[in-house]
Amino acid sequence: MFSFSCKSAAAARALRPHFPVASEFAAPGALARCARTKRYASTAAAPQVDQVSSHDFQGHETFRTPLSSEQKEFLDGALRVNQAGELAAVLIYLSQTPPIVRSHPHLRPLMKHMLDQERGHFDTFNHLLAKHRIRPTVMYPLWTAASTVLGWGTGVMGREAAMACTEAVETEIGQHYNEQVAELLEWEKQLQAKGEKLGPELKELLTNLRRIRDEELEHLDHAVENDAKEARPYELLTNVIRGGCRAAIWLTEKV
Ligand SMILES: [Fe+2]
Ligand SMILES: [Fe+2]
Repeated sequence: MFSFSCKSAAAARALRPHFPVASEFAAPGALARCARTKRYASTAAAPQVDQVSSHDFQGHETFRTPLSSEQKEFLDGALRVNQAGELAAVLIYLSQTPPIVRSHPHLRPLMKHMLDQERGHFDTFNHLLAKHRIRPTVMYPLWTAASTVLGWGTGVMGREAAMACTEAVETEIGQHYNEQVAELLEWEKQLQAKGEKLGPELKELLTNLRRIRDEELEHLDHAVENDAKEARPYELLTNVIRGGCRAAIWLTEKV
């Protein structure tokens, strides 16, 4: 459950009434169920809920500010894009590896290292989508086909083209993760101004996003070190791939 938390229990209790809320960041179905449960539980007018309480590991009462609908929408879209992007990354490396390793056997460890990291990223977002009941993008089958073709095509074009593909994809995805990190840091800043802090799950998400962003930028460095900029036609290839990534991100956020 993503939430913000605050430990100033006594002060908050004195100032704010609190009522249990089943989910602070969940799929619309879960929220609807939660709303129905609350309606059946009481016929009185629903009070304004701005914080919920729970207990930390020491048994202290803690207060959590639920996410706003804009924040839930942001996380829904961001996590859906992240999962689709990591699916694409896994498929690109999987399709590039056979032709690249056949002509450049010394690149086998590097390709395996990047693929293993992408599989880890994909697992992270699969887990988060399942946990928070966020639906994957409806574009999933199309992105599966497109990334396989992109990986295979650039792999067959050669080492430089494959690395240029990595450079282009990682530039866009690194920037995308950076924007998410910046957004969560902004939420944290706003909460700190109110004497609150990010809940444990948002904190963990922030840590994961930073780590994954850094790993994507590491892939970008590997690509440049391995002559991505020698690809021909470099500009055309990277611009087309970067444009495709931006369009895919835009579409996946929405559907
Ligand atoms: Fe990744
Ligand atoms: Fe990557």
